[in-house]
Amino acid sequence: MQSGRENIALIGFMGSGKSSIGRMLARKLGWDFADTDHLIVQRDGREISEIFATNGEAFFREQEHAAIESLRDSGRHIIATGGGIVTQPENVTLLREMSFVVWLTATEEVIFERVSRNTNRPLLQTPNPRETIAALHALRLPLYESAAHFAIDTSTRSHAEIADEIIAAAQRHYGVADM
Ligand code: S3P
Repeated sequence: MQSGRENIALIGFMGSGKSSIGRMLARKLGWDFADTDHLIVQRDGREISEIFATNGEAFFREQEHAAIESLRDSGRHIIATGGGIVTQPENVTLLREMSFVVWLTATEEVIFERVSRNTNRPLLQTPNPRETIAALHALRLPLYESAAHFAIDTSTRSHAEIADEIIAAAQRHYGVADM
């Protein structure tokens, strides 16, 4: 029996497919979709890159925490998060309390290829983004691993297949036959 308080949160590195797979999950389940980066931009009125450039990462992390807090009482939401959400332990505690936390994984090659298509990620505006990805990825892997209830690789399968597998895992997690 569903309580109506079920949520699925997607965590993972930049370019792991959180937003696109999140939208597909929301469509398939008929749930609401929330994206912490979008919530921050909506509230602040500036793009993420501008927030980083003007106020720095620490300020951004405060806004990111506020975005997660604002979803605390949600149910039937797919929550796509920013890649750095796991760097603050209080975010992880809250996400695990309120949702089934799914880690979308991808190889560094796939991540590099996906994020190279745009320049809107302030942390990757470095002389050698490939090395930056490798360093940040290594730092964050254990954080994603311990935050997640479930992990799924996104490097090769279609978004639809991945979404179906996540839904099946969420049903097992919540002990329901249908969602
Ligand atoms: C960040 C990831 C970005 C965004 C910000 C910081 C990170 O989100 O929150 O640029 O620290 O990894 P995506 O993971 O959606 O790119």
